[in-house]
Amino acid sequence: MKDTLHHAFNLAIALARRAGTIQLKHLGNVGRIDYKSEVDIVTEVDRECEDVIVGGIHKKFPDHDILAEEGSGTRSRSSFQWVIDPVDGTVNYAHGFPFFAVSIGVAYEGKPVIGVIYDPNRDELFSAIEGQGATLNAKKIRVTTEGVLRKSLVASGFAYQGEGIEQNMKHFRNFVRSARAVRRPGSAAIDLAYVACGRIDGFWEIDLKAWDMAAGVVIIREAGGQITNFAGGPFDLYGKEILASNGKIHQDMVHVLKGA
Ligand code: IPD
Ligand code: CA
Ligand code: CA
Repeated sequence: MKDTLHHAFNLAIALARRAGTIQLKHLGNVGRIDYKSEVDIVTEVDRECEDVIVGGIHKKFPDHDILAEEGSGTRSRSSFQWVIDPVDGTVNYAHGFPFFAVSIGVAYEGKPVIGVIYDPNRDELFSAIEGQGATLNAKKIRVTTEGVLRKSLVASGFAYQGEGIEQNMKHFRNFVRSARAVRRPGSAAIDLAYVACGRIDGFWEIDLKAWDMAAGVVIIREAGGQITNFAGGPFDLYGKEILASNGKIHQDMVHVLKGA
């Protein structure tokens, strides 16, 4: 198990870098765009990156379970599940807005234990294995020590559709009033990585999917941060809510989220 984790970790890093290189190569010329809905898009690069990642996993770990956003994963009864977002921040990517990433998580018996997020624009690789700390380009990272929400920078994002959008508008407004400032960068994976390395103090979102969060969850926990649902209760990778923070402002964020 330890050996498998170690090999899976190295493979996740290699595949995330390969996908990131493909993304940079086509940036500004992304090819055909398909519409999942009027606003939810997918590019040829999303699919190409997913093929490279899923193909790479099949080669080394043919029996592992794979859940990938664009649907090319394969289900198996393995205890290991790879959870992949080949391009997190596709709208940014399609517009040439340089804030997107590759997110690869591995769960063991349902619990995320490996996280790799690669931001090709800044050549930043965030990674963690459960129990071994989190790193950014091989240097240890920690969440911030800020304990005052009013002095905190927090971030969120919005789903493409659904009731969560209106609800999150209210949360967003409440955080604009109670935090130092609020950002909506457009890649949940990088938002989570930024909580882990201390560039932001907290993050919340409604209706994210497992592939947006699996890697980031491991990296934040290993960087000393806290992840829960909006009420401060146990986080569910397949649930509707994520609240991530440095731990110190967590209760204050729960309080703001109750107010909407
Ligand atoms: C999206 C991004 C965005 C978040 C959306 C996600 P995608 O992922 O993470 O920041 O607000 O909810 O769907 O579609 O670019 O992979
Ligand atoms: Ca995503
Ligand atoms: Ca995606």
